[in-house]
Amino acid sequence: MRTEKRASGRLGSERVEAAHWDEIAARYGDAYAAREHVRGNDPLHAAHMAALGPVENRHILDLGCGMGLWTTELASSGATVVALDVSAASVATVRKRAQRFDLADRVDPVAASAHALPFADGSFDLVTGHLILHHLDAGIAAREIARVLKPGGRAVFTENSARSGTLMFARRFLCGRFGIPRWSTPDEYPLRRSDLRRLRAPFAQMTTLHPRFDWFFLLNAKLFGFRNLRVSRVLDWLDRTIPAVLPFMRRLAYYQVIVLQR
Ligand SMILES: C[S@@+](CC[C@H](N)C(=O)[O-])C[C@H]1O[C@@H](n2cnc3c(N)ncnc32)[C@H](O)[C@@H]1O
Repeated sequence: MRTEKRASGRLGSERVEAAHWDEIAARYGDAYAAREHVRGNDPLHAAHMAALGPVENRHILDLGCGMGLWTTELASSGATVVALDVSAASVATVRKRAQRFDLADRVDPVAASAHALPFADGSFDLVTGHLILHHLDAGIAAREIARVLKPGGRAVFTENSARSGTLMFARRFLCGRFGIPRWSTPDEYPLRRSDLRRLRAPFAQMTTLHPRFDWFFLLNAKLFGFRNLRVSRVLDWLDRTIPAVLPFMRRLAYYQVIVLQR
């Protein structure tokens, strides 16, 4: 079973992840340190923020924070944020970003693994993350997230999903071939039902939301690179129309917002 294999090679996998993201941070860190906050009217982001609820004066853990785009958005909305990532170079970029936006007193960057959080039980009001859980051993991460949350606290993640057989077929047989790019690290895999079950285990409740469809967004990213405006419009229309006309397709969306209530 994949989760067992990943768990047994966990330290090796963490080293591979850290090296991969350190390299990306070394290349793009300066650009990221200066980028504006993420805010926008994207439905996925809006659903994530709505699920988090008010963040002002909340103490939040941004798990797998990367170069801190979301960290500084939360801090600029009045939260105090611990930004944790296994990549030391990414964490260094978060520190620069926080200084650049005058948020250093609200952001605490920490280089550590999500599998062994260096925080006391019940430290955080909220835990949040974007595209991090599918890099982790879901069961170990869930136990750690539940442990560091205060009683009644909530964790919200935007993640990918393996629920669509069509997308997973394309991922397996097309990406990395025929000139179609493959962007993933070797050990990551979109979240499967078994991962969701392991995530849910230490929590009182789990909800998943599917505010965007993204099949055609992925097609555009992989095949056309968003270069053709007309093609982009048609693909965007398909992404909006298919789940509106066939609501049962929503659950097969590529991205999902996962809400875990302690
Ligand atoms: C796809 S990136 C997402 C970064 C950021 N959340 C964002 O949306 O821009 C995945 C991040 O997870 C981090 N990561 C991978 N394994 C980790 C682990 N075991 N503990 C903490 N962070 C980890 C990587 O270093 C990387 O920054």
